[in-house]
Amino acid sequence: MLRGFLVIFLLCTIAIIAVFGFRGQKSTGSPLEIFPDMVRQMKVRAQAPLNFFADGRGSRLPVGGTVPIGYEMPKPETTTSLAAAVGPYTHPRAGFSAGTDYYNTGKMGDHWGTGIPVAVTRELMERGQQRFNITCAMCHGAAAEGNGITKQYGLATVVSLQDERIRKMSDGEIFNTITNGKNTMMAYGPNVIIADRWAIIAYLRALQRNQNAAIADVPEEHRPELEKK
Ligand code: HEC
Repeated sequence: MLRGFLVIFLLCTIAIIAVFGFRGQKSTGSPLEIFPDMVRQMKVRAQAPLNFFADGRGSRLPVGGTVPIGYEMPKPETTTSLAAAVGPYTHPRAGFSAGTDYYNTGKMGDHWGTGIPVAVTRELMERGQQRFNITCAMCHGAAAEGNGITKQYGLATVVSLQDERIRKMSDGEIFNTITNGKNTMMAYGPNVIIADRWAIIAYLRALQRNQNAAIADVPEEHRPELEKK
């Protein structure tokens, strides 16, 4: 009994001295690396010199024409009527630049604003249709009824944009949903330039209207054609 205690006491003493006893002593030897993981790598360090390149610098200049996120998109060389009408390229604040005004945030003061802050033309709608079909339709469906292809693959939470709630939602809030996402919908701000977001909203409004149209929306002279069908 006593011997057992003595052995344990001795082992504890050795362990305590091993852990705490020699602290503070510096060693000039390299530390023991049991698992070096990826501590030392052959890589270029930012801002550090490197002999590999002729100019002796490790850092490289960005490729010509690189546009940093948050800056203006380059203007196309030919200004087509589409670009002129749509405005993404001609608008002085095109691209991803983030101001604090309605055009950039969808907010008027502390509240969501409403209205399309660019001229709504046929070109804008066509642009919106194209962008909607590329960016939104696979989830929300071509008619925005929440029945895109992803539904069949398990994305069950996609909402119908034909819902009363979304039809009544302000343009600014929809702009914000596109920009920053919502719950399970990811943000499309980094993919869709601001002018295109507004084009999408304009087109979405048209979709909402054509799925909820009343006979009164049809000009009188065209109503007989509808009745025939
Ligand atoms: C990857 C699938 C996906 C894509 C692409 C997508 N959405 Fe969504 N969207 C969702 C889901 C899922 C929800 C429901 C989010 C939730 O749980 O509230 C949603 C919700 C919304 C809502 C309602 C937000 C609210 O406040 O309830 C709007 C408006 C919307 N999306 C617009 C768009 C537009 C416009 C685009 C194209 C730029 C787009 N979405 C692209 C999946 C998607």
